[in-house]
Amino acid sequence: MTNSKDLFDAAYAAMQKTHSPYSQFPVGAAIRTSDGRIYSGCNIEVVSYPEGWCAETTALSHFVMGGGGTITEIAVVAEKKAKCTPCGGCRQRLAEFAGPDVLLHLCDNDGIVETLTMKEIFPFGFEAEVLGGAKG
Ligand code: THU
Repeated sequence: MTNSKDLFDAAYAAMQKTHSPYSQFPVGAAIRTSDGRIYSGCNIEVVSYPEGWCAETTALSHFVMGGGGTITEIAVVAEKKAKCTPCGGCRQRLAEFAGPDVLLHLCDNDGIVETLTMKEIFPFGFEAEVLGGAKG
């Protein structure tokens, strides 16, 4: 999708900021909102390995702190792996804010190579009605 090049560019630029000295596996992610904002993030690792987190999670943090809203598209890029997909935990985190029809662009270092929807990549996610909480 050539019209999503700006989202890829944001994810790619975010990837350059990675702090991944342990895995040496840089990742970048970017989120677009329906009103045209873009939030991006990189993976951030910690010497106590389980304490690190993914690029998608950083991008979601920026999205929430930037005011949230409606997500329309997400792009993920990993320098060393074409079409890197979000990990299981990030699929659940993304699904918290991104509806089933949100586009998820999988990339290589040159751009978007495949586009899926959230419902394709995360079809049976845990849903929260049973908890009784309202999404706020
Ligand atoms: N990683 C991400 O940032 N996003 C993904 O979708 C997959 C994995 C990061 C976590 C860790 O810093 C590194 O990639 C290797 O697992």
